[in-house]
Amino acid sequence: MRKMSESPDLIDLLTDQHRDVDLLFYQLADITGEASAEALVLGRRVVISLVTHAIGEEQHLYPTVRRLLDDGEALADREVAEHDQAERAMRDLEALRPDDEAFWPTVRDLREMVRQHVEEEEQELFPRLRAACPDNELRRLGAKVQQTQRHAPTRPHPLAPSGEASLALLGPAIGLVDRLRDAATGRGH
Ligand SMILES: [Fe+2]
Repeated sequence: MRKMSESPDLIDLLTDQHRDVDLLFYQLADITGEASAEALVLGRRVVISLVTHAIGEEQHLYPTVRRLLDDGEALADREVAEHDQAERAMRDLEALRPDDEAFWPTVRDLREMVRQHVEEEEQELFPRLRAACPDNELRRLGAKVQQTQRHAPTRPHPLAPSGEASLALLGPAIGLVDRLRDAATGRGH
């Protein structure tokens, strides 16, 4: 149970982020097949949320897993390989619009990868890490992730619809994944 005054520990924080991404996928599922600005913006919010989440895990979760779990090296290697696979789908998605034929199949593939990721972490990795890692260390790591992510961009597009914007106004966001990674790791500007 988390007190209001405390920031979430690493596992609670990452679990909350899983729920946020689930919600975006549910919203997308409701409008599957629609060639709308809403679909495009939701797709970009998925990419932003997932890249931000992946960076937090790569910087603070997997190093801890490697250090504290017996088979941590193999577990972390598997998760990182899955991040690479998901990131390929996100690079496809950033260049697509909902009126492209490949948009919805790419959303579906990405959703399935995320579903597996969430299941593996929440069923196996997180419980084992909670048992192996002291609470104060998990809180310290949670604070570090929050600190890094405070600077993450939250707007999916400078032309995010304000209500009346149409899909025609929204171009592809090629380079979105790279820009997010550069911003989070201090590369670029
Ligand atoms: Fe995760």
